[in-house]
Formats: sequence, C-alpha cells, structure tokens
Amino acid sequence: MAKQRVLTGITTSGTPHLGNYAGAIRPAVAASLRADVESFYFLADYHALVKVQDPARVQRSTLEIAASWLAAGLDPSRVWFYRQSDIPEIPELTWLLTCVAGKGLLNRAHAYKAAVDRNQAEGQDPDAGINAGLFMYPVLMAADILMFGAHQVPVGRDQVQHIEMARDFAARFNHLFGEHFVLPSAAIDEHVATLPGLDGRKMSKSYDNTIPLFAPSKQLRALILSIVTDSRAPGEAKSTEGSALFQLYQAFATGEQTEAMRRAFAEGIAWGEAKQALVELIEGQVAPMRDKYESLMARPDEIEDVLREGAVKARRIATPFLATLRQAVGLRDLRQGAAPAKPAGKTAARRQPSFKQYREPDGRFSFKLLDAEGGLLLQGVGHDSAREAGQRIARLKASAGEGLSEGGQGVEFEGAVLGQLPPGATLDSLRDALAALAEAEA
Ligand code: TRP
Repeated sequence: MAKQRVLTGITTSGTPHLGNYAGAIRPAVAASLRADVESFYFLADYHALVKVQDPARVQRSTLEIAASWLAAGLDPSRVWFYRQSDIPEIPELTWLLTCVAGKGLLNRAHAYKAAVDRNQAEGQDPDAGINAGLFMYPVLMAADILMFGAHQVPVGRDQVQHIEMARDFAARFNHLFGEHFVLPSAAIDEHVATLPGLDGRKMSKSYDNTIPLFAPSKQLRALILSIVTDSRAPGEAKSTEGSALFQLYQAFATGEQTEAMRRAFAEGIAWGEAKQALVELIEGQVAPMRDKYESLMARPDEIEDVLREGAVKARRIATPFLATLRQAVGLRDLRQGAAPAKPAGKTAARRQPSFKQYREPDGRFSFKLLDAEGGLLLQGVGHDSAREAGQRIARLKASAGEGLSEGGQGVEFEGAVLGQLPPGATLDSLRDALAALAEAEA
C-alpha cells in the first residue's frame, strides 16, 4: 500500500509560541520520524496575506517559523518542507477548485461568517471591511491539501470545517473530471495539548497572552512568573484543576514529574516555587533548541536555501499533477485531437446515468443507479464492504448492460442477485443506461 501522506500548513503571521510548539511543532517533528508516513509541512504565506498587510512582518514570521521548525529537529531531507508561495501550481489549482466550489458553502465558512455576523451586529454592511481573500481562504487551503494527495491533515478543531470543504471540492471535481483527488481527513489528536496562556485562556496571539517559544531566557522567566494564579498562600492546598501553571507543567513534564507536582499542589507548594519549577522544566527543553534557533536566525541565506530545495522537491509532485489536472478540465494542447463539443450548458457528467454508493442503516454497503435526470433505475443489494460494492459496480459498468437477467428475486448479474427494479422500470431501461454510461466513459 502507498504510504499515508500527512500534510499541514503554518500561517506565517506571527512568532511561534509555546502553544504552537506543544500543539503542532513537537508532534509533527515526532511524526516525521515515522517510516510509514510521508510528511508535508509548509509555510502558508499566501494565507498570511489574508490578515497581515505588513510586509516586514510576513517576512520576519516566515523566517522565525522556518527557523523554529528546524531548531526543533525537523530534518528537511526526510520530509517535504517548503514555502507555499514558492509553488506556483498552488494558486493555479486554487482557480480550478474555485470553479467547482459552491459559493453557498463558502458563505457558511466559520471565519467568514463570523466576520459577517460582527458587521451585522454593528449595523454595518454585511461585507464591510472583508477582503475576498478571507472568503476564498478555504479554497486556497483545499489546493494546499489536494495538490499533494494528503490523507491526513493534523489541525486544530477550528480548522475541521476547512478539511470538510476540501473533501467537498475534491469530490465534486472527481465527479466532473475523473478520480484525481484523494479525499483528505482531519486528524485531531486528543492527546496533543492545547496550552493555556498567561491569563488562563487558550494561548493565542489574539489574546496577547503568549510565551514566545524562543524568548531569551530572562524574558521566559519573567513571563512564567507573571502567569495568573489564585491567592492561596504557601502551605495551603492548591487545585490542579483549571490551573494554567499546572497545565503548562504537564505539557512539558514526564508522567512522573506531573504526579510529583500534583502531590506538591495538594501539599501546598508556594506559587513562587511552582513557577520556579516550571521555569526550569521549560528552560531545560528549550535552551538547546534556542541556541540552534539563534544560529539559524543569524543565517537567513541558509534557511532560504532549505526552503528553495524544499520547493524543488515539492514541485516534482505538483508540476506533473497540475499538468494532468489541466488536461482533465480541458486546458489542453490544441494539437491533440479534440473531441466534438458537448451541447452547451450541459456537462457530460451531469447528463449521464450515475451510481451512488452509500451505507444502509444496517451497516451494509449498497448502491443505486440513477438515470440522467436523477430517477431511480436500480436499487442494489447490500454488500459486506464498500470495496465489494465498488468492485461490483465496476464490473457492472464494464458489462455495458450485457449479461443482465430477471430472476425470481430481482435483477441478476454474474449468477447472483444484483438488486431490484423500481416500479415502472424495465430491464431494458437498465441495459440502455449501462450502455450509455459505458459509451460516455470510453
Ligand atoms: N488554516 C491553517 C491555520 O490557520 C493553516 C493552513 C493553511 C493549513 N493551509 C493549510 C493547515 C493546509 C492544514 C493544511 O491553522
């Protein structure tokens, strides 16, 4: 079996913080060492432009994020590590997907909808101050994912809708133009920590409560000492429940260290002492990476080289794949024999009979054959697996309608019951539909 492909993007709009490290960088670097996956990590700088219009910040963030991933141990020779804007095939694929993306679906994207709702709450025009990049964001993200045939996309919960949209665009494209895209799934790791910030809310740039991953050690210490706690005095038992300090400790500690800290809380450790322990724990893990980070930041030309090599490697996949997609949609070399045009306004795929596969309530895998107008021609029997049902359909398509007969329990094919004709349908209409389908696909 082909290796599973795992892909994720990091928007280059800020400075990496401890939350990004524990939630994304650390698990990704660990996953990249597995032999059974192919990992794709990229700097989503086109996405950054949607919200950042400060060029120096986009550049600086790109450098900082690349340096952070490398300092954290990502080995660019084991993975695909590249900058989105170095892959011109991505915006080109974005357009192809734009033309199959339902506008209504994009209207319902959470980030866009939240911006519209805010405007409406303030009595403004619904689209006031909203750039079209925000609206198109899910399509660009789908292009990132579909370009490389990613199976799994590790993301936070807030991004799950985007992966579902990518599946939707991919399925529509496949339906219209052939099976080109892998349908991706969101991978949400329940064990991966979402870290609280200095004030106890989720650590996030938008709350201004972050601890930068590579803050100099004095600043790291000062920030940790400023974490909000309650007013329990030394000697008073403290609750680990809802304690930002404890959660941060846990995200960097071994199981044993965590249990020891849990006991210390129960025994009334002073907040100052607990903070000191957290400083030491984090500093111990960050300091060696910080040295590497600083030396990388001092040599931007090396990072630039790494990213350019990454782009060459990524384009070895992207360039030929996009050529196939251009061919599929009809952006073609005119010297190739052109098929006669289909009647205007009626795409071939929609006008053909089609198979629909689905799962029955009892868990069996079934299918239907619909005519060009969506009317039922055949209700298939259940199968044990989607694969079996799929293979049966494939053989049925290949038959072009030959070898069907009517038996006591319905339509038979290859000596077994295939399904039932709905009232009013005939075996001949079924044969005709299968013949038409075979001809269209030839
Ligand atoms: N939208 C993602 C975020 O804000 C970043 C991103 C861009 C991404 N393209 C992607 C993530 C493709 C996964 C796959 O976190």
